[in-house]
Amino acid sequence: MTKAAAIRAVKGFRDVLPDESRRWQAIENAAVATFVRYGFGEIRLPILERTELFARSLGESTDVVEKEMYTFVDRDETSVTLRPEATASVVRAYLESGLAQSDPTAQLFYRGPMFRRERPQKGRYRQFYQIGAEVLGREDALADAELLVMLARLLETVQARGVRLELNSVGDAACRPAYTETLRAFGRAHLAQLCGDCHRRLERNPLRLFDCKVETCRAVLADAPMILDALCDPCRTHLAQVRALLDVCGVTYGMNPRLVRGLDYYVRTAFELVAEGLGAQNAVGGGGRYDGLVAALGGPAVAGVGFALGLERLASVSEVAVDEAGPAAIVLPLDAGGVAPALRLATRLRDEGLTVNLEPSGRSLKALLRVADRRRARLAIIVGEDELQQGRATVRDLTRHVDRRHALALDAPGPELARSVRAFLETLA
Ligand code: HAM
Repeated sequence: MTKAAAIRAVKGFRDVLPDESRRWQAIENAAVATFVRYGFGEIRLPILERTELFARSLGESTDVVEKEMYTFVDRDETSVTLRPEATASVVRAYLESGLAQSDPTAQLFYRGPMFRRERPQKGRYRQFYQIGAEVLGREDALADAELLVMLARLLETVQARGVRLELNSVGDAACRPAYTETLRAFGRAHLAQLCGDCHRRLERNPLRLFDCKVETCRAVLADAPMILDALCDPCRTHLAQVRALLDVCGVTYGMNPRLVRGLDYYVRTAFELVAEGLGAQNAVGGGGRYDGLVAALGGPAVAGVGFALGLERLASVSEVAVDEAGPAAIVLPLDAGGVAPALRLATRLRDEGLTVNLEPSGRSLKALLRVADRRRARLAIIVGEDELQQGRATVRDLTRHVDRRHALALDAPGPELARSVRAFLETLA
């Protein structure tokens, strides 16, 4: 028979193994604790949504909607999409669940995988994970500022290195249209120096010009008119209030007048967290205000503001403390007769809160001790024939490789067993 070919993961999709996911857990735990402290509750959202949700909210001319969505027709002919982001879903849930009436100023956080069919590269995947938070129904600058303070605190807690906050205002329906026309006129005047993509952007959505990575386009745009100079009074006041509140809390940030974000729902506040040394994919997170989104999705005219962090990227700049310690003990039954007593022993120790591994029998003690080392266990509890006869397991200190023969009574009650094991652990090097 020919050997079956191994099946590989789909391009841009990857596995997160325990060493990496331990870091993710530390970050997620810190995020959840921080969000809860600021009054947010978790919302668990579906991964699949109707395609229309994203088409209507993210903007038809964004890269995400134009070419990056995993969209397919379901068996009942509905067009569905693997969510490329979660803000649209949060707003849908806010309306569908009645929160818009029962808790109009809901503060929600979420975590989970998102899907975008981008060209995979370092820090960019087709399935990636976000942790995000959204505040609905609040137009006041305090909502923006509080979110940014929370974000800054979280970055400190997870010891994110070299991350800076960049802030901008992208205006609103009152001032952006006029600015967009000014920018279009500027672009048309420099048409010859702009790439083909920018020619398209110019007609469909001139703000997207600032997304262009082509050097010559960037050089042209260095002289483009800035939205910050074109804001209407309410947008200008909002930005000034946000900045003043950030200053009160000592949150440091830089203004980036070219920051436009990749999704179309933003108004006023837009921000990004940019990490040094991450290369091209240096945005660890981003967000902003989306005051028109709830209405665009069929709800009342209520405001919203939020952000999302990319977990892969955040983990790569985080120096969060991760518990790398192995199990307190590993129980090693040497032969078939030791299996049941070993399971009973391990279970009672685990019931008492100890981290205990258990290995199957059938290998030599030497082989089992190699496993114990690989798992970084501190103690080995050996259950061999001799131990069974005596009713007492041997405990080996794996830091110094010294045995205490028949040191643990196999039939002792759980608390007593746990006390003995803890006493052993205290004597370790
Ligand atoms: P976004 O800027 O599209 O915003 O994504 C947020 C973060 O997700 C990015 O800064 C990045 O860290 C991560 N990310 C995005 N695409 C990828 C990818 N292909 N691979 C790895 N990481 C990626 C949003 O998604 C908005 N929903 C944020 C928001 C919430 N705005 C308001 N509320």
